[in-house]
Amino acid sequence: MSVKLLQLCPLLPATQEILNARYTVYRWPEPPLQQAWLQEHAADVRAVVTSGHTGIDPALAARLPSLGIVAINGVGYDKVDTEAMHHAGVRVTNTPDVLTDDVADLAIALMLNVMRALPAGEQHVREGRWPQAQPGLARRASGLRYGIVGLGRIGLAIAARLAGFGGSIAYTSTTRKPVEYAYHPDARSLAEVSDVLFVATAASAQTKELIDGAVLDALGPNGVLINIARGSIVDEPALVRALVEHRLGGAGLDVFTDEPNVPEALLTLPHVALAPHVGSATAETRAAMGNLMLDNLEAFFAGQPLPTAVV
Ligand code: 8YV
Repeated sequence: MSVKLLQLCPLLPATQEILNARYTVYRWPEPPLQQAWLQEHAADVRAVVTSGHTGIDPALAARLPSLGIVAINGVGYDKVDTEAMHHAGVRVTNTPDVLTDDVADLAIALMLNVMRALPAGEQHVREGRWPQAQPGLARRASGLRYGIVGLGRIGLAIAARLAGFGGSIAYTSTTRKPVEYAYHPDARSLAEVSDVLFVATAASAQTKELIDGAVLDALGPNGVLINIARGSIVDEPALVRALVEHRLGGAGLDVFTDEPNVPEALLTLPHVALAPHVGSATAETRAAMGNLMLDNLEAFFAGQPLPTAVV
């Protein structure tokens, strides 16, 4: 009898096939069936597979007495109570590195979309308006002052890409890093000297709404905010207000507070570029994430060191 595993997120067909071949895989049922499922299977479940933005509800984790590992198919682990897992002796793994380049690429794409007004330009062409009128002028994306909040793997990859844009790069981070970029002790002082502010820090209780109204005001009416990290890091109502009132120049957003719900006001603003949380969503990266998640599970059940353990 193979190991029993509970899957909370969709996976690529190729990843799913391997998972199904190696384990007895249960999918978390719809609410009316959950209690019956728990009664029948909860005691035997030894692993949970979940995504970065789904994580696992602590109440569900508490109902799984044989749980040994939560394997996240994503780098973010803010939706998993890692401290509780640690106390319960449950291992937690994620999929860092393999998605870094794609997420950094998306950050740059969002910046270019906002600065060069590409979404509005594309709409102009698709709606057949070009023969009648040229769209208004956009703004230059290169040679600016770029600020990065969080200089981990993804922040560094964004900085490496920005090096090709000229301009200057500065950052804020909990610790000063051995890099040549200018360090700022907090997001507000970084925003004051930035034209484009990239949010690339991990979500946690410490970074919740780190980008608040004061940071957005420091960024100012010509400043642009790019968020490819987590919606919770930005005070979303304050962001919407700042954009509507033109106190902020623009925003490029891949993540939101209450995904997949996006504040209505953002949908019509021309100086905003929106993406549906697709930072890691390329065929190549999702395949690599799936493989790393599978490797973590396999190592755990073989009693070997976990390739990318969080806990
Ligand atoms: C995906 C992410 O949302 O890695 C993360 O933390 O947010 C994304 O890669 C997701 O986890 C894919 O399953």
